[in-house]
Amino acid sequence: MTVVVYPNSAVLAKATAARLLLTLADIQARRPVVHVAISGGSVGTQLLAAVPQSELADLVDWSGIHFWWVDERFVPAGDADRNDAATDEVLFQPLALPEQNLHRMSSTDDVELLELGVQAYAQELAQHAKSGETMPLFDIVLLGMGPDGHVASLFPGHPVLNAGVESSSGPSVTTVGVEDSPKPPSKRITLTLPAVNHARTVWISAWGEGKAEAVAGAIGSRPIDEIPAAGVKGQQETLWLLDVESASKLSSASSK
Ligand code: 6PG
Repeated sequence: MTVVVYPNSAVLAKATAARLLLTLADIQARRPVVHVAISGGSVGTQLLAAVPQSELADLVDWSGIHFWWVDERFVPAGDADRNDAATDEVLFQPLALPEQNLHRMSSTDDVELLELGVQAYAQELAQHAKSGETMPLFDIVLLGMGPDGHVASLFPGHPVLNAGVESSSGPSVTTVGVEDSPKPPSKRITLTLPAVNHARTVWISAWGEGKAEAVAGAIGSRPIDEIPAAGVKGQQETLWLLDVESASKLSSASSK
């Protein structure tokens, strides 16, 4: 695990955008297709907004970048509550990304029942997996974390935290529905923890004092049931991207 602390959220966003763009370009020097999974919240609204603004954005061949969501709110398409609504505005439209590379989770316009949206996403993942595997291995998962330590729509104490196990063919369950999210809206589709971790690298970004306790708990390996972010682990790298405020409780946690 690596922890990088920036002086403020503006520098964190710029640096993370540059890191993302350079990493995508490096991967594309070896192979054309790259799978990236993103979350909503401030990652979707603020952090990803720095990507098209970066002068490094042209280093990437965007036709080879596939975007997946770690979670989505089960509301109508285009609703301001949708995670993809913000990403459309700040990232996809400015870069004119091809729609076939944007692997959106279902809205209530697509399917009536949450469970059908869950099944559709599991199928979409399987279609892009190696033969016999349940999902592609993500190159980068870019997560935000709530002040309660949740990532994706995996909330503290919630039974979906236990869904799925990693196996030789990938996570046994990749996608689940949440009917009672403590953070509104209540109905969501989310990747399971093994699916979030089915990644070469996972980056978790958090800023502001309100996240300090959860950051300390996650990095200090609190129980996953208490701080779900403590269970996040990339196969090659787990990278925490913080500002001074969100990192402010770290030393006391590690000295415990
Ligand atoms: C969502 C997000 C969620 C988000 C965290 C952090 O649907 O709400 O995908 O996982 O990333 O809640 O959100 P903030 O960065 O806005 O605190």
